[in-house]
Amino acid sequence: MVKPGPQGGDPKPRVAILISGRGSNMVALIKAAKVDGFPAEIAVVISNRTDAAGLALAAAEGIQTVTIESKSFGKDRAAFETVLQSALQKHRIGLICLAGFMRLFTAEFVQAWYGKMLNIHPSLLPSFPGLDPHAQALNAGVKVSGATVHFVTPETDAGPIVMQGVVEVRDDDTPETLSTRILSIEHQIYPNALRLLASGKLRLDGAICRVSGDADSAGTLIAPRPTSG
Ligand code: GAR
Repeated sequence: MVKPGPQGGDPKPRVAILISGRGSNMVALIKAAKVDGFPAEIAVVISNRTDAAGLALAAAEGIQTVTIESKSFGKDRAAFETVLQSALQKHRIGLICLAGFMRLFTAEFVQAWYGKMLNIHPSLLPSFPGLDPHAQALNAGVKVSGATVHFVTPETDAGPIVMQGVVEVRDDDTPETLSTRILSIEHQIYPNALRLLASGKLRLDGAICRVSGDADSAGTLIAPRPTSG
């Protein structure tokens, strides 16, 4: 059994948020971490693209930003990660949150951060990993979908599941309308998942993530809603 993240009594872990684009999950994490009593500190936002809109949003929130343009490294993932790792060390980072970070890591990098790196994906994993998860969900005709926060493993959009949030899928949904509804769930679950990790409440039991204490949930969601008669 592996206990990820910090142990009780340690100072607040310093978090790096890695982005490639819009940065709405990044903003949700930054805002949550500014509230008194949040058990982690957002220390830096790192983008692998100079044109990521999230960079300006992070700066507006007073968070330091770093850009490491991955394009210039081509397929040399390890060389990119060497630069990334030194930025993480420089900022004394203990936890990583991937928030729309669209670059794959080597197995070595993932292994080094196992139990300390979270990702969010807009589907109920293990369903619909990879690209276009909203279109994948609509094409499969599922009646509920949602978002998943998980520990990162070498496989894309896989790894022990920390938290999931569910939305109904409507008959008239398009990938855009479904994505808007799921995004609002993402903004709720990601800060909460980070809170659990940073406060030492998660433990990894093989491929399963367990939460210590009472795991509360709102109950059940049935969609479409059953009608009588
Ligand atoms: C989010 O919907 C996130 O779940 C998704 O990218 C979007 C980034 O938006 N991530 C993945 O699909 C990972 N496979 P944001 O930049 O506004 O947070």
